Amino acid sequence: MSSLLIVNATVVNEGEKFPADVYCRDGRIEEIGAALTHRQADTVIDAKGKLLMPGMIDGQVHFREPGLTQKGDMATESRAAVAGGITTFMEMPNVNPPTINLQALEDKYVRADGRAAANFAFYLGATNDNLEDIQRLPKNKACGVKIFMGASTGSMLVDNVETLEGIFADAPILVATHCEDTPTILRNEELARQQYGDDVPIAMHPKIRSEEACYLSSSLAVSLAKRFGTKLHVLHLTTAKELELFAPGDVADKQISLEVCVHHLFLSEEDYEAKGNGIKCNPAIKRTEDRAALLAAVNNDVVDVIATDHAPHLAEEKAWPFMQAPAGLPLVQHALPILFELYSDGLLTIETIVEKTSHNVAKRFNVVDRGYIREGYWADLVLIDTERPQLVTADNVLYKCGWSPFEGDSFRTSVDTTIVNGEVVYQYGRSEPMPIVGRRVDFSQ
Ligand code: DOR
Repeated sequence: MSSLLIVNATVVNEGEKFPADVYCRDGRIEEIGAALTHRQADTVIDAKGKLLMPGMIDGQVHFREPGLTQKGDMATESRAAVAGGITTFMEMPNVNPPTINLQALEDKYVRADGRAAANFAFYLGATNDNLEDIQRLPKNKACGVKIFMGASTGSMLVDNVETLEGIFADAPILVATHCEDTPTILRNEELARQQYGDDVPIAMHPKIRSEEACYLSSSLAVSLAKRFGTKLHVLHLTTAKELELFAPGDVADKQISLEVCVHHLFLSEEDYEAKGNGIKCNPAIKRTEDRAALLAAVNNDVVDVIATDHAPHLAEEKAWPFMQAPAGLPLVQHALPILFELYSDGLLTIETIVEKTSHNVAKRFNVVDRGYIREGYWADLVLIDTERPQLVTADNVLYKCGWSPFEGDSFRTSVDTTIVNGEVVYQYGRSEPMPIVGRRVDFSQ
């Protein structure tokens, strides 16, 4: 194992911002101090005042392996993730075959080992008939149990009420829900078809996957969690109305926690015209008022976690008519730069970005020794350059699908360096092959 010294950094950690050097050895942070230049290290990085933050722990990604690897795989998408400052990912079960039992879960860990550039954990997926697999799940095998309480990519809808009650009553670990009411969506789709025939415009997406559909489902999830005492994490909330269901506070004290995604904070329905199916996703990007309410909820601690829901699809699939085009957008490479756009616009502080993308994810999922810049913790770090703008082009996206909905957009901030388990895995402009050092994440309960 190697040693690494980062000097002249501006550390952002646990609500504070201060100049420091950080010395890492054998994968972990050994010392954080004022002047550590006496330390001998194999690699020395002069941060020249750049921000040093704990790497993002992305609590929701779709890396498409096994079975959908034409769209993405663990190797390609994790490389894009570390280029975006993500050092740990938690990956979703809607692959082929779906991750709905212990064997499929273990298969994913084997696939990631030696191929994932970032640290990894996987969700066990719920179905209408795998309650026993969920009940028997050993605690350290998965980051959570994922329930699609609304149909999305794949066919993993759980709509049997008794099954839902069983999962909420018995899941041995955190339950994470996708909340959209499918019967409401199907009715809205039918109305849109009656109005527009085969040519429904993308502008109808937030009206089909409506506020009502979201609210019906998220209120059901919250009421089930209250009834059964479930540790519930509601994924990618999109509407102001649903925020009523959640309380502010420290995530450590919450039974029910809340995630929003980068694209729902950054975009609104005004962006459909320019970006089209490229930003079609479930739940849909909604109104500017919803976006403003989500941002306020991040700032007042109703929202605990910011994730990406990275969901690559092929460019040719996205070129299909709106109703046929798959939902989801690739995001991991640009999530932190997008959040820094919100910082530059005065909408989020850097401390809040760090709390929601790293500390709180570690807290909520009981991740062991990651998510903070602390002595003894794994050295999962990102250096951010707020003075180096970047233009997103088809040539510089690293996703296997080869496109981004942000092509042609400029961000004011770039990821300069990403460190995973004490190894420099990504440096801006460096062309050598990326070291692959991702490890399985440990959970304390
Ligand atoms: O837009 C989405 N895409 N939402 C999801 O829930 C699934 C995801 C995917 O896997 O494509």
